[in-house]
Amino acid sequence: MFGIRQFHPVSAAIVGLAYIALAAPAAAQGQVTVYCSILEEQCREGAAMFEKSTGIKVAMVRKSTGEVYAQVKAEASNPRGDVWWGGPGEPHLQAADEGLLDDYRSPRFTELHEWAQRHAEQSKFRTSGIYLGALGVGYNTEVLKKKNLPEPKCWADLLDAKYADEIQIADPSSSGTAYVFLATTVQRLGEEKGFDYLKALHKNINQYTKSGIAPVKATALGETAIGIAFIHDMLTQQLQGAPIKTVAPCEGTGYETGSVSVIKGGKNPEAARRFVDFTLSPAAQDINAKLKINSIPSNKNAQLSPDAPKFAEIKLIDYDTPRWGSPAERSRLLKKFDTDVKALPR
Ligand code: G6P
Repeated sequence: MFGIRQFHPVSAAIVGLAYIALAAPAAAQGQVTVYCSILEEQCREGAAMFEKSTGIKVAMVRKSTGEVYAQVKAEASNPRGDVWWGGPGEPHLQAADEGLLDDYRSPRFTELHEWAQRHAEQSKFRTSGIYLGALGVGYNTEVLKKKNLPEPKCWADLLDAKYADEIQIADPSSSGTAYVFLATTVQRLGEEKGFDYLKALHKNINQYTKSGIAPVKATALGETAIGIAFIHDMLTQQLQGAPIKTVAPCEGTGYETGSVSVIKGGKNPEAARRFVDFTLSPAAQDINAKLKINSIPSNKNAQLSPDAPKFAEIKLIDYDTPRWGSPAERSRLLKKFDTDVKALPR
């Protein structure tokens, strides 16, 4: 460019404009920025598959669901992400209601299970369902044995003073997993009793981690005796040989509708929609079975891992995802958790 300018400034300007004109659409078609809230290994595998099949370059950032929500909100005036892949539906729904997501009805919609279609319809197609995951408890059998602690069966058991400092869960502001636990508790017991439960449980919590998977890994390593997380994540560790047992709590439990959304105002909307189509395809959802990640896929033609938790055998509550994903409820519950629970001494 410098050489051309020295020769002939006008032609340099023309060449420059032509360069921009050519470069802009090519860049727009050729890349997509994905904020990924599933497991790092799923994100990497999916990005590589998408790049290989489309030639579109993927810039991937892995962050927990509440963190991505906050980032998408902070970037609203100049969005830097194109797609938000994974994580429980509530933060996606809040973002949708706050006008941060674009509506998109994927051609894959008709291939989805009824629960995933309902999720997309309820959000006015501003998010789509990609998997289901039931919330539960996992414990390290060796640690319990060594410390002579009983095996928990119910949510209520976790309040036992014997478990002081032995339970780990993520922080609901950053983690979608922990928010599902917060909302499940409030739905199960009502708000007042629910918060009483959370305050009592707080005494037994050793750490509120940033991501939902951290307590699972800590349980597998015996760094905590008990973790609260999605059952399918605990199962993955079990299948890899960790001394973990999983519990679907006796009172009934809530679940996540893992979601994917197009970020409004992203620089690569066409590539974003193609990426969403990909995440709803059997090929992308089969990554789970391949990596022994046992959430339940939303595409009817995707493989259901034989190790996946059997939803029919888990006592589920009638968990109200749209309600807990509404901006008013989610903001209020998170604030209340910070002031009324997290701020308490342990
Ligand atoms: C893991 C689980 C997903 C879940 C996600 C939420 O990847 O396998 O089912 O949606 O964690 O992560 P977060 O850090 O937001 O709790």
